[in-house]
Amino acid sequence: MPIHFNETTKEFHLQNEGLSYIFTVMKNQQLGHLYYGKAIRHRDSFQHLFRTQSRAGMSNVFEGDLTFSLDILKQEYPSYGTSDYREPAFQVLQEDGSRTTQFEYVSHEIFQGKPGLNGLPATYTEENDEASTLIIKLKDPLIDAEIELMYTVYENRSVITRSAKFLNKGKQKLELIRALSASIDLFDADFEMVQLSGSWSRERHVKTRELVPGIQSITSTRGTSSTQQNPFLALKRKTADEHRGEVYGFNFVYSGNFLAQVEVDHYDVARVSMGINPFDFNWLLAPGEEFQTPEVVMVYSDEGLNGMSQEYHNLYRERLVRGPWRDEKRPVLINNWEATYFDFNEDKLLDIAKESKELGIELFVLDDGWFGKRDDDTTSLGDWFADKEKLPDGIEGISRKITELGMKFGLWFEPEMVNKESELYKEHPDWIIHVKGRTNSHGRNQYVLDFSRKEVVDNLYEQMADVLANSPVSYVKWDMNRYMTEIGSLALPAERQSEVAHRYILGVYDLYERLTSEFPDVLFESCASGGARFDPGMLSYAPQTWTSDDTDAVERLKIQYGTSMAYPLSTMGAHVSDIPNHQVHRKTGLEMRGHVSFFGMFGYELDITKMTPKEKEEVKQQVHFYKQNRELIQHGTFYRLLSPFDEGGNFVAWMVVSSDQKEALVGYYKVLAEPNPGFKRLMLKGLNEHKEYKIEGTDGSYYGDELMRAGLMLENEFSGSTQPQGEKLGDYRSSIYKLTVLD
Ligand code: DGJ
Repeated sequence: MPIHFNETTKEFHLQNEGLSYIFTVMKNQQLGHLYYGKAIRHRDSFQHLFRTQSRAGMSNVFEGDLTFSLDILKQEYPSYGTSDYREPAFQVLQEDGSRTTQFEYVSHEIFQGKPGLNGLPATYTEENDEASTLIIKLKDPLIDAEIELMYTVYENRSVITRSAKFLNKGKQKLELIRALSASIDLFDADFEMVQLSGSWSRERHVKTRELVPGIQSITSTRGTSSTQQNPFLALKRKTADEHRGEVYGFNFVYSGNFLAQVEVDHYDVARVSMGINPFDFNWLLAPGEEFQTPEVVMVYSDEGLNGMSQEYHNLYRERLVRGPWRDEKRPVLINNWEATYFDFNEDKLLDIAKESKELGIELFVLDDGWFGKRDDDTTSLGDWFADKEKLPDGIEGISRKITELGMKFGLWFEPEMVNKESELYKEHPDWIIHVKGRTNSHGRNQYVLDFSRKEVVDNLYEQMADVLANSPVSYVKWDMNRYMTEIGSLALPAERQSEVAHRYILGVYDLYERLTSEFPDVLFESCASGGARFDPGMLSYAPQTWTSDDTDAVERLKIQYGTSMAYPLSTMGAHVSDIPNHQVHRKTGLEMRGHVSFFGMFGYELDITKMTPKEKEEVKQQVHFYKQNRELIQHGTFYRLLSPFDEGGNFVAWMVVSSDQKEALVGYYKVLAEPNPGFKRLMLKGLNEHKEYKIEGTDGSYYGDELMRAGLMLENEFSGSTQPQGEKLGDYRSSIYKLTVLD
């Protein structure tokens, strides 16, 4: 079992081939951190790694002892108020107004497997021997409260997951004013912090900054994990790059407000903390109640950022995503949103579907505008019954007609929202998140339903289940198009108002859980104005996320590159759309749009009936090519090769390799043409160095070692002025290379 416990020194060592994570019970019975990094041999004692310093601390815990100051000790789940001045992992407000606590080690248990987290998404095991779990019980006797810290280490993955549970066993009301999921004090701060930041239509751009003394953090206060910051951060050594060097990844399995923070102290210790954002959060823990924090997934890699990403990808693909769609081939889809927006009728939809079917597309998705009286974005959210003017035979009719064509049918919902112009709002005006007497800010004319209330979730469940049960719907796009404001619930007492944002997310998870259990064969794709909720919490229910509303091929290079830091290709919806692109008005060729979208869960987002015969033929070939390679794309190992975020960023490349290394697909992209450039080659990754690969469409074959060391020689077609003509000349060009091992 990869968890050792040393009885005499009270040390825990979580160890597998990739990593070691070691901590101890300190003299004051709290937990002290000893080591996290590449695996080291187990031994009887690691106490020599524990360092105190005489007279260094300004505040000391024990009388007569000037060495034991929490201010300078590395800890596991620290508190504030007993000599540590850094930001703590938690704070408990007591009835006498005190926030000082002393949670001491009581006991622990170690077992195989990984328990679920009540009401929250989490990574899991299928066989018990895949992972071992340690639960440590800490107790504060004065207030009779306990904390259970849960650590799971996977056997064959460089992954540790952490979470915490608070239990009020006493008689007084406690208030959690901070309850993070994990905190760790790393030995030094010689790192750069990598984060995924952006906005609507430019989500998850990679930003890197050097750590400096003090706090550096990213957060969301928007009610969703957000496009502004993703609940992910990595600490990489300054010398580490995509393929080499130490990287520590932290990713939060949660879809609401979060905090991800690194505090560098006066001894260059880097305290990494992650959890529900304490800002505007309080949780009343009445006697007998428990509070479970969401999970943090920590990855250690000594093979650079790619190594870290691959650990996340494997884990999420295999042990976060659930249900039959985890492994099944995802359908090539066409979505009518950018083809019609709100302006469609059944004939128009059927025309699109018929043409799509002929080109090999498998799933038709009916987006926004099919319900209530929704001809624009001012009405009908909340009324999940078909608009008979547009769809005379309802969803039952259109879905049957589409399935009769031999396609699958998918449907858009935005269950968490309501327009004031709707039957639902007229019946239940008190069902929105708001504060009495205050302005109700809106976003896109809509209001957020109070999912902290069970009756609201029940209502949406009934409406959606009714549609799904009565029509052949195989796919649901679950959208969410605004952030929260004036956060309050009419159903909760004053002392619980700061719980609303978290209770809302629990309500969303509850609805997802009920629908995915009731309709396990439906493929769910989450969406929040594109990628405002691209997080592991959502992926636990919806195997795919609509990566961004921005489908411009050039911008998508950045978005998909950044997203791949933590999330696998099997989770990224990627569609070819029309030109000029609806978001940035750029005109890129159909070829490049296809080449970028191939590296994701593929589809189209345009009016296929308006395409020329030549374009349709190209679409047909793209769909055919994707289907031939979709197994590889969905399950293969992804490598980032050239970054759009590097200086210049003009050339981008990535590749995916099958697990048996017999096949690989390389995408190479040029944004702007360069006049008379030098020669270029691409160093491939992940191939079998002893095997010879043929490159489709060429006569050439090359050994893996050559392709990875001497590189794939790129054609001179990118050389601009040296050739008078050429398909690959000019801006926005791309090439796909398919490699197959020769028998
Ligand atoms: C935002 C989504 O990201 C789009 O794809 C589309 O579904 C619209 N909402 C519909 O309102």
